[in-house]
Amino acid sequence: MLAGKRVLLIIGGGIAAYKALDLIRRLRERGVSVRAAMTAAAQQFVTPLSVGALTADHVFTDLFDRQDEQDVGHIRLSREADLVVVAPATADLMAKLAQGHANDLASAVLLATDKPVLMAPAMNPRMWAHPATRRNHAVLAQDGVRFIGPNRGEMAESGEAGEGRMAEPLEIVAAIEGLLAAGPLNGRHVLVTSGPTHEPIDPVRYIANRSSGAQGTALRDLGARVTFVTGPASIPPPLGVEVVRVETAAQMLAAVHAALPADAAVMAAAVADWRVANAGAQKMKKDGSGRPPALDFAENPDILATVSKGADRPRLVVGFAAETESVVDHATAKRVRKGCDWIVANDVSPATGIMGGAENAVTVITEAGAEVWPRMGKDEVARRLAAKIAEALA
Ligand code: C5P
Repeated sequence: MLAGKRVLLIIGGGIAAYKALDLIRRLRERGVSVRAAMTAAAQQFVTPLSVGALTADHVFTDLFDRQDEQDVGHIRLSREADLVVVAPATADLMAKLAQGHANDLASAVLLATDKPVLMAPAMNPRMWAHPATRRNHAVLAQDGVRFIGPNRGEMAESGEAGEGRMAEPLEIVAAIEGLLAAGPLNGRHVLVTSGPTHEPIDPVRYIANRSSGAQGTALRDLGARVTFVTGPASIPPPLGVEVVRVETAAQMLAAVHAALPADAAVMAAAVADWRVANAGAQKMKKDGSGRPPALDFAENPDILATVSKGADRPRLVVGFAAETESVVDHATAKRVRKGCDWIVANDVSPATGIMGGAENAVTVITEAGAEVWPRMGKDEVARRLAAKIAEALA
């Protein structure tokens, strides 16, 4: 399943570094090419010589090594992999990435990569439980970093027991398989739109909505080649997909056309229905009359309807519908009006906590009728949707 994949392994400084050697072996047995970078502390636990013997490659240790930088350079190093794995991920490495430090090779590579990052933390249970590490863990998870472990058990160095042991090499391999192996949509191209749009009033003001981009971002896990067209969302776009950033609905439409053809389109963006037709070229001033400026509105293009009815229509077009009442009725009518195949409808009344939250409760409207899905994480909604899309495309 993993043959031919490339992993950049960053080894942090902890006693669990010895397990990184076994991890390299397990990955190479599966046909993965592994390149390793080690922190200075890691080299106190295992030597670059043993790591290099197992990777059969040069081991990168120094951000300021002229030869290394000439040969590969930390930016290329960070990009020439399918996945970056940090094992063991120490409290220090987690803190550095959470803060965006880049003062050694490992942290610079982590900051520069455009590939998914998997961390296998290993540290003393008190360090893992410390509020600072809790904070860094939450920040990294929100930034799209994936985690495996730590496990509960006895600590090698102190005999203390608790949560902090690095996941076993085979568990890390399984997590890598989950991230890299062919999913149900492997080989497909899926276009995803996400986030709100901003419609300018003048150069400094705009009209927006409360979409966080969370559901769209969760759709990164489709297991397909994803082109991710996003408005200015409050959470960062996912790693490992091609990201196209736009502001307005008009720009989003252009980006969507540029991204086609695709096998499927999943339009989760909360596109503004209206733009300001008479947006000011300069900042609008109060004119002293006490009257507000008269804004004229023009209707934005309906991207979903345009794509659904267009010549380059993907085989499957999925729209979203954020409703606050009569969810199924409105969404059913919307599916027909827009000409898409499915509508994923959700109730965004403030009481549901769905808009901007981690969970979603959706009803999927298809030609066959309405499927009510139980309330679940937005990631889980994305996984189920991926499976359903794969089935429809098969
Ligand atoms: O009409 P409404 O905004 O409720 O429809 C929501 C669906 O339509 C979403 O999939 C959204 O991405 C899409 N949409 C669009 N262009 C618009 C308005 C909505 O693509 N101008």
